[in-house]
Amino acid sequence: MSSRVLITGGAGFIGSHLSERLLDEGHEVICVDNFFTGSRRNVEHLFGNPRFELLRHDVTFPLYVEVDQIYNLACPASPVHYQHDPVQTTKTSVMGAINMLGLAKRLRVPILQASTSEVYGDPAVHPQTEDYWGNVNPIGTRSCYDEGKRAAETLFFDYRRQHDLSIKVIRIFNTYGPRMHPNDGRVVSNFIVQALRGEPITIYGDGSQTRSFCFVDDLVDGMVRLMNTDHEVTGPVNVGNPGEFTMLELANAVLEITGSSSEIEHRPLPQDDPKQRQPNIDLARRELGWEPTVALRPGLERTIEYFRGVLATA
Ligand SMILES: NC(=O)c1ccc[n+]([C@@H]2O[C@H](COP(=O)([O-])OP(=O)(O)OC[C@H]3O[C@@H](n4cnc5c(N)ncnc54)[C@H](O)[C@@H]3O)[C@@H](O)[C@H]2O)c1
Repeated sequence: MSSRVLITGGAGFIGSHLSERLLDEGHEVICVDNFFTGSRRNVEHLFGNPRFELLRHDVTFPLYVEVDQIYNLACPASPVHYQHDPVQTTKTSVMGAINMLGLAKRLRVPILQASTSEVYGDPAVHPQTEDYWGNVNPIGTRSCYDEGKRAAETLFFDYRRQHDLSIKVIRIFNTYGPRMHPNDGRVVSNFIVQALRGEPITIYGDGSQTRSFCFVDDLVDGMVRLMNTDHEVTGPVNVGNPGEFTMLELANAVLEITGSSSEIEHRPLPQDDPKQRQPNIDLARRELGWEPTVALRPGLERTIEYFRGVLATA
């Protein structure tokens, strides 16, 4: 059955892929964005579709639309962007959640929150399961993002307890793919852009810290599956790719695929940078029947192809 779906942050990296996926399934999509980090360009290929609508709106203000489902993705996701105006970042997570939950409550429709593995902070438990409460610095420079997302989770569960709302909380781990920002300081886009420009590849620390990377199509599939579970399934549920790579391994894979002759350059580790992060996805496997299908190499190849196009037209 086709529905009308609201996606906040819909003109961002993940939101644009989610918009595509839902339109492909025959739904109507209302994409709401204030274009802080997202852009019209990310969704311009959808403008010709009569089931797609783009609204400029800041989620820290209330929104009145009639929809059947809400995906709440609005929030800058990379440190460069969320630290640019940290007060606005917390406001977006907290007031955005309040406004969207209020809308979901009025309409009695399910709402999904794009939460993050950052709620685990610098984890003392590895790999992270959903029952781990995290190790987050409440007053550091990353806190506007981490604590904003934690507060949003609290609000989601209180709306559930207090108003019996159908809530879905997904904890997204590092995701990559086409339409990532070229200059947002995230490791995959950084390495690719540096390699394609023939600039040195900058690794923070000695490069032994690990991350797991999920291709965006896999993540979007997990989101859609979670949204369409029944009332009892709320999450939080980890969605990410458990395949773990060191920064050095990632840099070498990018160098190999691009054929670049860039050198590797080491820089000091930033404050609160987690040393290790890997999702445990047993719950997603069990409750959503989900697991990643795109391996790092083909995912990197598609992302590199996208960035080649971006850099060629820049
Ligand atoms: N990309 C990842 O690896 C990752 C990991 C964990 C969680 N997430 C979460 O997924 C969501 C999407 O992330 P993304 O990678 O697509 O980032 P993104 O920055 O590309 O997208 C976020 C979108 O939200 C919009 N936005 C920001 N503040 C807003 C506001 N006040 N009102 C309306 N729109 C606003 C931005 O303009 C942008 O289009 C975010 O909530 C992020 O925290 C992403």
